[in-house]
Amino acid sequence: MPDTFDIVSPGFHADPFPTLARMRQAGPVVRMRLPILGRIWLTTTHGATAELLKDGEHFVRDPGNAGSRTQERVLKVLPATLGLLAKNMLGLDDPDHRRLRSLVDQAFARQGVAELKPMIEQVADRLLERIEGKPEAELMQAYCRDLPLSVICVMLGLPEKDHDWFKGWLGNLTDTANIWAVLRAVPGVWRMVNYLRAVSRPGGGAYPDGLISALREARTEHGDLSEDELVAMIFLLFGAGQETTTHLIAGGIWALLVHPDERDRLSADASLMPGAVEECLRWVCPVQMTKPRFARADMEWQGRRFRRGDMFAAFLTAANADPAKFEEPQRFDIGRHPNPHLSFGTGVHFCLGFQLARAETRIALERLFARFPDIRLAVPPQDIAWRKRVGIRALAHLRVRLSQ
Ligand code: HEM
Repeated sequence: MPDTFDIVSPGFHADPFPTLARMRQAGPVVRMRLPILGRIWLTTTHGATAELLKDGEHFVRDPGNAGSRTQERVLKVLPATLGLLAKNMLGLDDPDHRRLRSLVDQAFARQGVAELKPMIEQVADRLLERIEGKPEAELMQAYCRDLPLSVICVMLGLPEKDHDWFKGWLGNLTDTANIWAVLRAVPGVWRMVNYLRAVSRPGGGAYPDGLISALREARTEHGDLSEDELVAMIFLLFGAGQETTTHLIAGGIWALLVHPDERDRLSADASLMPGAVEECLRWVCPVQMTKPRFARADMEWQGRRFRRGDMFAAFLTAANADPAKFEEPQRFDIGRHPNPHLSFGTGVHFCLGFQLARAETRIALERLFARFPDIRLAVPPQDIAWRKRVGIRALAHLRVRLSQ
């Protein structure tokens, strides 16, 4: 039963479980037609999702490795600045991917997430101070979006004088699936690329203990990063780390507010917090599907025949709702154990920022609920609006009452 599942509308995002169950009945991989992407096969089970992401022999990220010349031709006609950003490690296969990943892993390791905790707490407290004393607040912009943006500015080691400009620009680029939004952002991309080139050069202003300097100095047996690669890497960190964390924080707050029993359980026992963040990751699943993969050759997989070049995506939200892996998957249970969700992907492209995202979400939830113990949704749960988005589960607003 191809092409008949709605996975884009606000209605799907409000309650994806019934659609996911119907998709699974249609088989472990189902054929869909999606906006922008076109014809694509989506996985519906935990097993098929993990297999797709781990099997680099049969599935590749770069369509050029599956016989397609389209991307190569598009890159040739794109202005050089945009072309360099498009060639980041998330779009590459090994060995190119491995070389870049080992360099960024090294740079990330220099700043342990535990050391960043006090800075993230400070950022969260500063943002919450701004809404203190108000009866109501819209948390999406003021907290859920601003927190990861502020954290990445500090982490990168950008001079403070540039933070507001930088955050303003990045904060506006919220819908990278919308081609018009991306085109409107193009002039800003030029300015941003030039800025990043300048700031990352020796003496350019980036702090020596930040990630930009660490990336500049990273070296492995495979060499170091060129300036183009460094700029592309920083853009990838924005692209992969901002919207994702924003919607995990927002979705996590929402999930706890619509499950008051689970929230009371958490207030009574703070040791449940790490498990609560994992359950928010599974149940909210802000990144619903990965970037596309392509079949390297004609093959048979999951009981079907596929052709070289066929396009697939790992449907993480379906994997997280697979009853073969999770008991009562539709139930939000902060004590769920084990919780082998796939919200950060798996295989060689496994999320680079998973520890940072966990730490930011944990701190965001802890600080918010500690400061506003009476917080609740300002509208009835059925009036909460979700965005019409492909692949990202995004609340449109998060209006809350802060006091009784
Ligand atoms: C809730 C927050 C986040 C979620 C749910 C998430 C999810 C994911 C997923 C599913 C992938 C794999 C994509 C694929 O295989 O096609 C990925 C990759 C990646 N993520 Fe995250 N991410 C989050 C936060 C972050 C943060 C905070 C950063 C960095 C600041 C980050 C950096 C990356 C990078 C660089 C990759 C590409 C890794 C590679 O190609 O080797 N992510 N993320």
